[in-house]
Amino acid sequence: MPADSFFTRTYTTMVKENELEKVEILGSKTIHVGYKISSHICEEIVSKEASSTYVIITDTNLVKAGHLDTFSAGIKASIEKHRPQSRLLTYVVSPGESNKNRRTKAAIEDFLLSKGCTRDTFIIAMGGGVIGDMIGFVAASFMRGVRFVQVPTTLLAMVDSSIGGKTAIDTPLGKNFIGAFWQPRYVFADISFLETLPEREFINGMAEVIKTAAIWNEDEFTRLEKNTKQFLQVVTNRKANGHVDLSPILDHIFKLVLESIKVKAEVVTLDEREGGLRNLLNWGHSIGHAYEAILTPQALHGECVSIGSIKEAELSRYLGILSPVAVARLSKVFSGYGLPVSMDDKLLQSRINGKVCPVDVLLKKMAIDKKNDGSKKKVVLLERIGKCYEPKASYVNDEDLRVILTDNVFVHPFTKPPKEFEVTPPGSKSISNRALILAALGKGQCKIKNLLHSDDTHRFER
Ligand SMILES: NC(=O)c1ccc[n+]([C@@H]2O[C@H](COP(=O)([O-])OP(=O)(O)OC[C@H]3O[C@@H](n4cnc5c(N)ncnc54)[C@H](O)[C@@H]3O)[C@@H](O)[C@H]2O)c1
Repeated sequence: MPADSFFTRTYTTMVKENELEKVEILGSKTIHVGYKISSHICEEIVSKEASSTYVIITDTNLVKAGHLDTFSAGIKASIEKHRPQSRLLTYVVSPGESNKNRRTKAAIEDFLLSKGCTRDTFIIAMGGGVIGDMIGFVAASFMRGVRFVQVPTTLLAMVDSSIGGKTAIDTPLGKNFIGAFWQPRYVFADISFLETLPEREFINGMAEVIKTAAIWNEDEFTRLEKNTKQFLQVVTNRKANGHVDLSPILDHIFKLVLESIKVKAEVVTLDEREGGLRNLLNWGHSIGHAYEAILTPQALHGECVSIGSIKEAELSRYLGILSPVAVARLSKVFSGYGLPVSMDDKLLQSRINGKVCPVDVLLKKMAIDKKNDGSKKKVVLLERIGKCYEPKASYVNDEDLRVILTDNVFVHPFTKPPKEFEVTPPGSKSISNRALILAALGKGQCKIKNLLHSDDTHRFER
């Protein structure tokens, strides 16, 4: 039976409306994952968390998609049922990273103060990572800290930013420079939000999903490999209103969200304040952030992390830690889910308005990384799919990074040819093919290890 039909068949029977999975984090099962669970979310918040004032904070895109109306009505109904004396406030901000700043945060705080909000205020942060990070930070600092929940509405926010209590705003000098660790009371991941999420944002979130499987969960990575085609077919097929019908892949999406959340929750539970292990979640981000610093806002975070992940995988391979085959698998999965894996990607090129990423600038950007020890750079190295080399980021030097980050390599003839020479090409078919041509042009015997085999190199003869 072809892989696709197997997956379609098993998955379409699994996820049901209102069904819930609860994931444990820091000792309690406070992450709830489900499909169409808005009434559960509203009931859980109002019945379990007593407050005189519930405040939903979201952005205009969520309002346009109708989500604020749904949730306001749900919270109001639960208030009527459980706490008729309480009230509901709503506040809407402009969307996008450029609004995750001091000005917007201050405006929200002034709104809360003007409405007489006190320390028992309960905040509901409904949105993507921008809303979650910023509103989490408002909750951490308003009245020296009030309770809040995360209702993530993007794939990235469900699998990554809403989990673990990292909250922050951006400053002109850098992203997420001002913030706090402040844990939400609950995280409610309702997959149905993704039905209104734009295609590019959906694909963007897949970078963190693939990253998480790559560092921790080989079985899930293998499952992701098998479902690329169907994913792109469904996610790119939009209705007239721009929404997407996820039903053919609902079980696949539910599972990938759940599995990613489980890994993040486990890692956060082991290392809440990012002492070492939590750094593993940063795989692909050391180099990815450097690209993002140059390519933002034209390229999205996940797109840069995808390129960064492949570069970091190539670094592991170059250092002799990761096999070329693993690099090839990674590259295939990221591109299979519609993400760029190099600066040569045509779609990426069409978006970045001719921007370039010189190696020296990338290395400078990499110097500003919270994982580094002073001037010593650290990168998470992958040993194989599903396992990192160390339980933390490893020291790497600029010379090795330079080799990986350089697009072009000059090939010089040997002045004194060695008797024997060994070449280990990276896990790339096109580079393997080039190595074969170079070998064919050389004199004497040449042995090439780790060649990627493909139909076009099968019958190579000298
Ligand atoms: N705290 C952490 O641990 C952590 C981890 C990763 C990323 N982040 C942060 O997350 C942010 C990025 O998050 P993001 O990718 O979710 O971006 P985002 O919050 O900007 O959301 C992307 C876009 O999608 C829109 N949107 C959100 N949900 C929607 C829905 N259901 N339907 C229609 N439109 C919707 C938003 O309005 C926005 O325009 C960055 O600021 C990053 O620093 C934080």
